Amino acid sequence: MPNAPFVAEEEREPGYTHVVLILTGSVASIKAPLIVSELLNYEKVKVEVVATKAAFTFFQPEEIRHAGSRIWRDEDEWVEGYKVGDPILHIELRRWADIVLIAPCSANTLSKIAHGHCDNLATSLLRALAPTTPTYVFPAMNTLMYEHPLTSEHIRIIEDVIEYNVVGPIGKQLACGDVGLGAMTEWRDIVQIVVDRFDLQRRPDAIVHS
Ligand SMILES: Cc1cc2nc3c(=O)[nH]c(=O)nc-3n(C[C@H](O)[C@H](O)[C@H](O)COP(=O)(O)O)c2cc1C
Repeated sequence: MPNAPFVAEEEREPGYTHVVLILTGSVASIKAPLIVSELLNYEKVKVEVVATKAAFTFFQPEEIRHAGSRIWRDEDEWVEGYKVGDPILHIELRRWADIVLIAPCSANTLSKIAHGHCDNLATSLLRALAPTTPTYVFPAMNTLMYEHPLTSEHIRIIEDVIEYNVVGPIGKQLACGDVGLGAMTEWRDIVQIVVDRFDLQRRPDAIVHS
């Protein structure tokens, strides 16, 4: 079922940190419910999740909702009967965001960001983002995808031209069985970046994840 219209001005709450988490078609999207749940273990945090079509392979939307966030998909952007002045989802989400995490970032989305493509909700949001909004990219892919010569070129553009922060990947045994660089930064370390940046305080009733 599509979400109701999202209007940043109505959804932003003073004093809160508003986190947009973008999920892409990398196996590491499996960690999304943990990232959402752990972010919401801190006072005055709100999370909205945006997922690509491929990302939905790796989790159940209900897990994200249960963790405490809405989840937005491409179809939510395309509402029939648009009238001038109606909210446009990718614009409203970028107005709402204090920080954007692309965790995990697939090789495909990495390439699309580097080339300025904006053919889905996630990349339209990124293309419309103010350069002052801190944005973190956490690549996650097979080692050979990561070692492909184009990957380092895409990362160079993303760091030097677009000026996003690229964190990771790390080396370990990947879901496909290969051992090497390509795994997403540990989900706790991703949350810690937001905690440190906004000096977040842990809630007394925080859920402990094993
Ligand atoms: C089971 C499965 C696992 C995949 N894992 C990864 C991955 O870890 N990293 C990656 O870059 N692509 C991975 N892919 C390929 C991407 O899902 C594919 O390139 C897709 O087009 C990415 O689309 P998106 O960037 O819009 O999410 C995987 C595909 C499948 C079917």
